[in-house]
Amino acid sequence: METATLRSILEYAVRAPSTHNTQPWLFKISEGKELEIFYDPQYVLKQADKELRDLHISIGCMLENLRLASMHFGYNAEISFGPFSENFKKAHVVFVQKSLLSDLDKRLFETINKRVNARGVFSPIAIPDIVKKQIIEMSSGSKIKLTLIESKEDIKKIGMLTEQSMHMAYENKSFRKEMSGWMNSNISSKKEGIPGFALKMPFFLSFFIPFFVRFFNMGNILGRKNYESISSAPLLVMFSGEDIELSWIETGILAEKVMLFLQSLNFQTSIFVGAIEMGDFYKEIMSITKNTTRPQFLFGAGKILGMHKITPRHDIDRKIIF
Ligand SMILES: Cc1cc2nc3c(=O)[nH]c(=O)nc-3n(C[C@H](O)[C@H](O)[C@H](O)COP(=O)(O)O)c2cc1C
Repeated sequence: METATLRSILEYAVRAPSTHNTQPWLFKISEGKELEIFYDPQYVLKQADKELRDLHISIGCMLENLRLASMHFGYNAEISFGPFSENFKKAHVVFVQKSLLSDLDKRLFETINKRVNARGVFSPIAIPDIVKKQIIEMSSGSKIKLTLIESKEDIKKIGMLTEQSMHMAYENKSFRKEMSGWMNSNISSKKEGIPGFALKMPFFLSFFIPFFVRFFNMGNILGRKNYESISSAPLLVMFSGEDIELSWIETGILAEKVMLFLQSLNFQTSIFVGAIEMGDFYKEIMSITKNTTRPQFLFGAGKILGMHKITPRHDIDRKIIF
């Protein structure tokens, strides 16, 4: 494979969502047709992602983009991952010619550069039943269980748990310090972290909010905002499975597929992992949703009206190692 093609594939891969927009991946290219993927330990969120669940989910999302982009350029990406931990090695990709994109994969690929994690209040427009059916079908064959949460009452309960989880998180000074370091102003030239516009911050406030987050406990305000957003969602999509690295990566792969699908139909998706990550709130989600497997990831889906701008990424050269 030409290096230029591989670079183009990686440009699509890194458009994936990642926790706090950390983009924790590193790529090592060997002989032009094989790729090794590592995570960069400097991007571990020691407070927000103690178990590295979100780091693995982020890498899973990136692998799904990589698979789609490889097919667009005529290659089948044979992706394997694990065993983990000892040496940071996470995934190995062999590119094999030649593959055809299915209509669904073409649709997903064409959405990669438009996908954003939207934030804000959802309008009451429902997701049609046919779309929900297609989402369920997308999960067939995956080890990850996909649950659609549609009852307004259950959605509100999960909104409340998320609000409480944010109170808990923001009480911790180290969490606040870490979080503020990943929030940027609306005109920041930083290529990592979340720009103010993506958090729907007004222009002037975007210069001060990271400071306030760091030195004051804003858990009440931010928790309420999350509650308002989640409770307005017509649908929550939850992914659950075994609590191991392998299943976190698989969660990311499936979640990215479903988020791309929904966004290809002009719906928005908005991720909320507070109640999954903090304390024991996940147990309450399990009881609300009558789920026996551990929740790993969750997003709201529907229409969030207004502009949703894409967020920056590092140049691909910074992510390639030799
Ligand atoms: C594993 C994971 C967890 C995330 N958790 C949250 C969250 O709890 N709240 C939130 O607002 N965004 C969350 N995000 C969204 C990221 O902040 C977002 O993907 C990143 O800033 C890049 O922006 P983009 O998705 O619009 O490209 C999460 C993303 C991932 C992959």
